Amino acid sequence: MKFVFPIVSSIVLILGLAVLASYLLAYFNKRIWNISLLKKIARYQPYLTTVSMLFWMAGIFLGAGFFYILGGTTTAFFILFSVSLIISLPVCYLIYRFGQVHIKKRVKLDESRRRFLKYTTGIFPAAAFSVSGLGVMQSFTNVRVPVITIGIPGLPPALEGLKIAHLSDLHLGYYFSLGDLEKTLEIIDANKPDIYFVTGDIADDIEKIDDALKLICCLRTPCQGFASVGNHEYYRNIDKVIRAFDKRPLPLLLNTGTTVQIKGENVYIGGADDPVFNRLDMNEFFEKTVTETMLNSPEEAFRILMSHRPGGFDTAHRLGVNLTLSGHTHGGQIGFMGRSLLDGWPVEKYQWGLYKKGKSRLYTSSGMGVWFPFRLGCPAEAPILILRHDNSA
Ligand SMILES: [Fe+2]
Repeated sequence: MKFVFPIVSSIVLILGLAVLASYLLAYFNKRIWNISLLKKIARYQPYLTTVSMLFWMAGIFLGAGFFYILGGTTTAFFILFSVSLIISLPVCYLIYRFGQVHIKKRVKLDESRRRFLKYTTGIFPAAAFSVSGLGVMQSFTNVRVPVITIGIPGLPPALEGLKIAHLSDLHLGYYFSLGDLEKTLEIIDANKPDIYFVTGDIADDIEKIDDALKLICCLRTPCQGFASVGNHEYYRNIDKVIRAFDKRPLPLLLNTGTTVQIKGENVYIGGADDPVFNRLDMNEFFEKTVTETMLNSPEEAFRILMSHRPGGFDTAHRLGVNLTLSGHTHGGQIGFMGRSLLDGWPVEKYQWGLYKKGKSRLYTSSGMGVWFPFRLGCPAEAPILILRHDNSA
């Protein structure tokens, strides 16, 4: 029952977009190009979107990988296509009208000029189609391992240059395989990190959780790694996830933390819970879980918090947490110049990258995998974070 509202509203939204795009395409095609192929695309697009969604839903509810991948990929394509058309077609028509009026004023609009104008504006629907294809393709590209320096005020000298591998949102199973994980881990290993953190949403195919943890635990870091939960751990079977972690030397910190020695320095590492089934206000939940998680943190320790959702950062800052590591947002899967286009969105304001608040720092990863295959300007990543002392704050 919990999923009925989000599922129904997503279906209504996707179909609404498809119908609107189809109407606009039919309308503007009649006024500009009058091409029979575009007429057919406009007519059949909502039906094709519906069939894609049915495949996708069948994949989700029957646990059928083939339907999940095919339906998810084609649905992603049609959503992008609809959105691109809705944005580009009115612009395209305005340019067409302007061109006609402008040319008419100066010269008689002969047939060749009219044709030139017509096909030039045709670039817009063609671009919509290309952008949709590119968005789907980019979600299948290899995970990047960028090296990012984070300046932290009050960083103990012993931790200067500490290299952290940050793994998040693998969503293993459908669009990200164990082979992909192995390949990414090899690149991470080559960067020689000191420690690694896994901030949730590890496996969408829960049968792969054991193998995933086995591979992750092979990272050759001098310090032990730590993990926290994401919402998908709850969706898929939290008990099974906990049992899988119990078999590995990788502690899953769930609403708790522990003090460890890193390069002779006391470091408190906490793992917040995820508010997936919470009935509280989101801020209240973060306040509660982050406070409980950091409760036993020694006064003098350097504090690191794993909070799957970056919303925990505000409380972390209030509690004097030095570094928070998050994921979950996937950077909205759409970005430009290393920032998410959804940055500052009230529901999840820390979408992707480095954020500063007083002396606290947050890094939100764009994630290694996807559960819905499109990414535009926001590639999958497993960053290596290098800590440096920052005098500026
Ligand atoms: Fe998540």
